[in-house]
Amino acid sequence: MSSLSDFVVVANRLPVDRVVAHDGQKSWRRSPGGLVTAVEPLMRKQAGSAAWIGWTGDASESSDEQLPSFENDGLILHPVPLTEDDIEEYYEGFSNTSLWPLYHDAIVPAEYHRHWWNAYVRVNRRFAEAAARVAAPGAFVWVHDYQLQLVPAMLRELRRDLRIGFFLHIPFPPNELFSQLPWRTQIIEGLLGADLVGFQTPGGSGNFLRLTRSLLGLKPARGAVPVDTRVVRAHSFPISIDVDSFAELAATESVQRRAAQIRAELGNPDHILLGIDRLDYTKGIGTRLEAFEELLLERKVDPDSTVMIQVATPSRERVEAYRLLRENVERTVGRINGAYGSVGRPAVVYIHRSLPREEIVALYLAADLMLVTPFRDGMNLVAKEYVVCRLDGTGALVLSEFAGSALELRQAFRVNPYDIEGLKNTYLAALQADDEEKRRRIRTLQRQIHRNDVASWARTYVDYMDDAHQRSRKDSGA
Ligand code: ADP
Ligand code: G6P
Repeated sequence: MSSLSDFVVVANRLPVDRVVAHDGQKSWRRSPGGLVTAVEPLMRKQAGSAAWIGWTGDASESSDEQLPSFENDGLILHPVPLTEDDIEEYYEGFSNTSLWPLYHDAIVPAEYHRHWWNAYVRVNRRFAEAAARVAAPGAFVWVHDYQLQLVPAMLRELRRDLRIGFFLHIPFPPNELFSQLPWRTQIIEGLLGADLVGFQTPGGSGNFLRLTRSLLGLKPARGAVPVDTRVVRAHSFPISIDVDSFAELAATESVQRRAAQIRAELGNPDHILLGIDRLDYTKGIGTRLEAFEELLLERKVDPDSTVMIQVATPSRERVEAYRLLRENVERTVGRINGAYGSVGRPAVVYIHRSLPREEIVALYLAADLMLVTPFRDGMNLVAKEYVVCRLDGTGALVLSEFAGSALELRQAFRVNPYDIEGLKNTYLAALQADDEEKRRRIRTLQRQIHRNDVASWARTYVDYMDDAHQRSRKDSGA
């Protein structure tokens, strides 16, 4: 497939993952994480020749085989191969052991190795070259997330005719943290290859703009950074979800039946608490469970009438910090169930696998209380999904003040996830709030999310991008 595309997304992962079964059978399934949840429906709705460049997520021995481009549900997918070394050094190493912890408040210490950085440069160049090959003249190329921060500048070198956007899905740290990075200047220069650098929150774009001054001596003003003959814009665009598709699923009879069945299977408890996260140390799963355990211990919550469900999607399983987290979480779940569960009636239901979207929505419908308690999170789409699925206005959302979504979702029960007493009190307050208060909060949150769904997020970004591109051309006299 050799046709060129006017609209190209470049992300570390394709929207679908290649799964190789034990018998060697290969199939595709939706890739994990919020980036794909948000961007995939937009791309599938694009008429014409939209393309997505990314890795197949395949870490098997054949992972570096060059798969041909192919069409998937109206979208042209261009796989970028990663070798076993690339996966270890670029993906697990620099992306997820250097950048991920550094950008999330260094919740676990970030590690820096020169060979990881070299792999990051090498793989970013491969993605930039792939984009340069498939983008039509003057195309809009939208580069996503922390794994690919060098791509904008590399791509601009190769193709000056393109409009290049970048969006960071995770937090962008302040100077004090970012400055640890031995290659901090190169990262900022990489991002400055874009016409528009988008962040989840104003804090992220402010941090970036300040770094262009302190590291490169540039002179940002009102969200614009003059770079040589161009002007690069930086701004925040809080990402969202495809509201209609979640609301439609929540209204489906089979999903509602499944929600009732989940409650019945748990013995129709008075209260179901729910957590749904990738199994990631940023998500605060351990303290969330410990707060529940203490409430059981102090008899403020009755194990005969309350159940917590924790879905923890496997993630980055070969990275040490994730392995340790899994051990900790599973030990805590075991301890709580040992003390408070009974035959056929666990205190915590723990699910460690990926689930179909219908099952996720059924869980949202079954849960009285959604616990979203990350220590730091770029946005957190689970919080938004839960709210829009509560069509009857019941339910309650406990939301960490350190999630990007907390800036918008002000009517949630807010919590500092580092404060165990605060977590406990907030669970209780949310469980005990009267129906009228809960309905008022959920309805306000729903209105907020409906106003900024993912389509309006993308429209705002693209409009801003067009405007930034025009102004940059004017400023540079082109
Ligand atoms: P992150 O991007 O850090 O994983 P988000 O909350 O923004 O966090 O997005 C997670 C996405 O993954 C949501 O769309 C959620 O519905 C989905 N998801 C989470 N756990 C599972 C699971 N076990 N199976 C399928 N989808 C899941
Ligand atoms: C977050 C990141 C994405 C990433 C996803 C899943 O949402 O922002 O870039 O794709 O997590 O993580 P993984 O490492 O499995 O791609």
